[in-house]
Amino acid sequence: MVEIRRAETDDAPGIIDCFNDVMSEGIYLLGERYLGDEAFLEMRIRDEFNELFLVAIHNNKVIGVLTLTRESFQKNRHVAFLGIAIRRGFRHQGIGRAMMEMSFEWAREMGIEKICLEVFSTNVNAIELYKKLGFEIEGIRKKQFKIEGNYVDDVLMAKFL
Ligand SMILES: CC(C)(COP(=O)(O)OP(=O)(O)OC[C@H]1O[C@@H](n2cnc3c(N)ncnc32)[C@H](O)[C@@H]1OP(=O)(O)O)[C@@H](O)C(=O)NCCC(=O)NCCS
Repeated sequence: MVEIRRAETDDAPGIIDCFNDVMSEGIYLLGERYLGDEAFLEMRIRDEFNELFLVAIHNNKVIGVLTLTRESFQKNRHVAFLGIAIRRGFRHQGIGRAMMEMSFEWAREMGIEKICLEVFSTNVNAIELYKKLGFEIEGIRKKQFKIEGNYVDDVLMAKFL
């Protein structure tokens, strides 16, 4: 049984652990490890108007995290950037889709009009999911990354709410 809910400050260590676990796989996320610290993350979780943190919980453990971060300026505050990471062993069970659909509700309530994300061109499952949820490819930055010795494109996707 997996529960999806808004994160609380107590979830900060679990969120960092989840990001680090997925980052350690080395092929889905840009970072090698989570760079912020717990206090900074707690501050971001409290900033409910500018950022949404959703967690998926299984047996009291964070097994998935979604972040939706609103841009800062008047000129781009109608835009938010989405990030998502589900731990190995919990993928392809509909958790990612459910978290993203929940995040769209928050975005609409907050007056956000456009959600952007970036994804490696090699991450075909993720791109498939994003397309099913209404994202379109806006651009491609070629050979933006080198992963395990191979060039990978940066796929920029967006969905208008
Ligand atoms: C990408 C990710 C967020 C998707 O979440 P998920 O919970 O695994 O995906 P879901 O189970 O909700 O699947 C939704 C869709 O993804 C696609 N998908 C899932 N598993 C798939 C597979 N094995 N092969 C092909 N497509 C697949 C399908 O299109 C599926 O659609 P459906 O619901 O109509 O069957 C998750 O796998 C993940 O965190 N992966 C590692 C980190 C990562 O890649 N983050 C995103 C970086 S941009």
